[in-house]
Amino acid sequence: MSTKPRIAVIIGSTRDSRFADKPAAWILELARQRADWEVELLDLRDFHLPFFNERSSNFWAPSQDPNAVAWQKKLATFDGFIFVTSEYNRSIPASLKNALDQAYREWIRKPAAALGYGSTGGARAVEHLRTIAIELQMVPVRSAVHIMGADLMKVHPMGENGPISAIEDHILPSARAMLDDLDWWTRATIAARAADAERAAA
Ligand SMILES: Cc1cc2nc3c(=O)[nH]c(=O)nc-3n(C[C@H](O)[C@H](O)[C@H](O)COP(=O)(O)O)c2cc1C
Repeated sequence: MSTKPRIAVIIGSTRDSRFADKPAAWILELARQRADWEVELLDLRDFHLPFFNERSSNFWAPSQDPNAVAWQKKLATFDGFIFVTSEYNRSIPASLKNALDQAYREWIRKPAAALGYGSTGGARAVEHLRTIAIELQMVPVRSAVHIMGADLMKVHPMGENGPISAIEDHILPSARAMLDDLDWWTRATIAARAADAERAAA
């Protein structure tokens, strides 16, 4: 079994005409350049999550919906997360909020990093995401990637629809800082969770 930290890149938007695939592919590729991580892309479209309809979060009672349970089982295999989030009315898309609500135990004491995009780089969505992550007992990391304004219009289908390489110079430093933060917190929380498990077993 691999001992490398396992990182998931989660695509938060599910709409047919989403832009999300472009930045998700870019950050996935960059994260995969770290030979000391195992990185997987999780597309919420593939999980067919219903709107949350459980008696409580799975912190208090096991979930009943089989797709929610499959989502939780998948999340449990990861040590850290990169959320690729758009901004819908100053927050994260409902699809991502629902996916966050559909698990709890699997998020606890794991770091959350973000790549946001929108007119202000998805800054307000990323801030909401951080607040939600705190309630899920995650560790929101400080650095994030923000694709905004003229840069967004260069790569968005409603603008020039160019490749991310057209703006890479602008976002690469923050992406590297974000990945470094995520690496530090992922390793710190893996060690801390292992120490907890050892203490509990003693
Ligand atoms: C319902 C809706 C609300 C939006 N609200 C915001 C917003 O508050 N701030 C912003 O910067 N962009 C907003 N936008 C524009 C999105 O940033 C843009 O459409 C982006 O491509 C959405 O991500 P997606 O294509 O990956 O779904 C909104 C778009 C939609 C469809």
